[in-house]
Amino acid sequence: LFVNASGASAKKIPDTLFGIFFEEINHAGSGGLWAELVRNRGFESGGSFMPSIIEPWAIIGNDSSVIVSTDLSSCFDRNKVALRVEVLCDNGGANICPDGGVGVYNPGFWGMNIEQGKRYKLVFYVRSEEPINLSVALTGSNGLNKLATTTVVAANASDWTKVLVLLEAEGTDSNSRLELRSTTKGVIWFDQVSLMPLDTYNGHGFRKDLFGMLKDLKPPFIRFPGGCFVEGADLRNAFRWKETIGPWEERPGHYGDVWGYWTDDGLGHFEFLQLAEDLGALPVWVFNNGISHNNQVDTSSILPFVQDILEGLEFARGAPNSRWGSVRASMGHPEPFDLRYVAIGNEDCGKPHYPGNYLKFYSAVKEAYPDIKIISNCDGSSKALDHPADLYDFHIYSSASFVFSSASHFNGAPRSGPKAFISEYAVTGGDARDGTLLAALAEAGFLIGVEKNSDVIEMASYAPLFVNNNDRRWTPDAIVFTSSQVYGTPSYWMQHLFKESNGATLLSSTLQANTSNSLIASAITWRNETDNNEYLRIKVVNFGNSTVTLNISISGLENSLQSSGAIKTILTSSNVMDENSFTDPKKVSPVKTMLTKVSKNMDVVLLPYSLTS
Ligand code: AHR
Repeated sequence: LFVNASGASAKKIPDTLFGIFFEEINHAGSGGLWAELVRNRGFESGGSFMPSIIEPWAIIGNDSSVIVSTDLSSCFDRNKVALRVEVLCDNGGANICPDGGVGVYNPGFWGMNIEQGKRYKLVFYVRSEEPINLSVALTGSNGLNKLATTTVVAANASDWTKVLVLLEAEGTDSNSRLELRSTTKGVIWFDQVSLMPLDTYNGHGFRKDLFGMLKDLKPPFIRFPGGCFVEGADLRNAFRWKETIGPWEERPGHYGDVWGYWTDDGLGHFEFLQLAEDLGALPVWVFNNGISHNNQVDTSSILPFVQDILEGLEFARGAPNSRWGSVRASMGHPEPFDLRYVAIGNEDCGKPHYPGNYLKFYSAVKEAYPDIKIISNCDGSSKALDHPADLYDFHIYSSASFVFSSASHFNGAPRSGPKAFISEYAVTGGDARDGTLLAALAEAGFLIGVEKNSDVIEMASYAPLFVNNNDRRWTPDAIVFTSSQVYGTPSYWMQHLFKESNGATLLSSTLQANTSNSLIASAITWRNETDNNEYLRIKVVNFGNSTVTLNISISGLENSLQSSGAIKTILTSSNVMDENSFTDPKKVSPVKTMLTKVSKNMDVVLLPYSLTS
């Protein structure tokens, strides 16, 4: 491998190159990054149809002690469903209640993770004609083993009353549930029951361990809130930003019909922008352009949708006294968010109304916000786009060999005009299973090709980011979690070896003609912000099953190359199909060793199926 560090051939890599893509898929947000512990907090999973779907809420008691139903009596106009609990038993009467009383419990998202010493904020709305005497508890999954209890008493709650309780856990159980019980005959209505840990990132509602996994990747951008999630199978189930802002109690929630689950939309448009800010990442907002999987808005009727998006941009960027900027300010963020990128739809190129709708959104957004970069869904890597755009979206999901060989895909892309945003890449299928070393190496090879073509590629992100292991809707994913555990797949760890590339200098590097075509390599120099020193990083993927001794020859760094102290990082494993797991979370993860001697001409041993850096 010849590395030439002399100035002329070096190129600056975009600061934005390797970021992340968050989609509400696999309970990434609802039951994941968003720390809300109650699932279906408004009892309306499935909408305001009667009878409403209350699962996973379940009844404590039997037919002779309690009747649980729903009606439309909520005090919240946009989510009218309330839970009606008719307590038939009474500890003061003949029909004695079962031990502890009757009522309902919520097991959260496959168990609530309650941790000893931590505090949890419980909020719910309640109404009853009779005085209320409720016992509230966090318990183990079978209702035994109480971790926190309290009593809520209200002499008069004949109008809807908000109750706020702080619960401190006296024990730990990752499979806990929340119980609301009574032993007094009468009817009680409940609505909007929320249980949030106080200990979230910056108090912003993000589960700390999952947030940390993202922060560690140092992403320069975050694309959100999804791909298909934004489109919806049906337009009425698409993500609508306005339905996800303001007080959480008033948000209607919606059914994400592509990934098949309800979300209360606690993680809404504001929280996504806040997440980007907390990560130090630029937000990239993908919005619905009037097109879903099964239906489309005709371009002649698209203007209200365009107006809605302009208002969403004003919400993000408008002055705090503007109409929508003031709503943002009222949510605690008077400063505008740094929104500089939007994508008009997801995977909609080729659909009949895309060209017309696209142009309407494009011209309205450009006129109102000329600096915002607009991403088209149409692939401009093979031929120039026939419409204006700042970036074009490119998705690649395929076998390991195809993804690896696609490292050269952008060699032939147009060198002028819109740049590429590879907003979704991953090896899928049998090569990847739930996340193999093989997949990660193929993706690493692809990303080396992305680095080399970063004059025409501005951004790239793996997909999907998260999966709650209890409800896989798509595999593989970068980060796997349950209520209390988390690990990164090899593809997650592979991305760590690319995070220094953002804003780095790409050096010219050439593999000798006789080197096996299962090798791919790149070289960068980058400045470490901590010590302000400049470092050289060479990455090589050996995608073959034999050990290779690679001779590396470096020119142009003669005066600055230090002969010792360099670090060699290897991502490999004994079997190329190895995966990580909760029991062995770092089986396939980068291992660092010291390089004893560095010189301008050296041999480096590359293990079979490895990424060496
Ligand atoms: O990443 C999963 C899905 O793949 C995305 O929602 C969609 O854009 C693509 O088809």
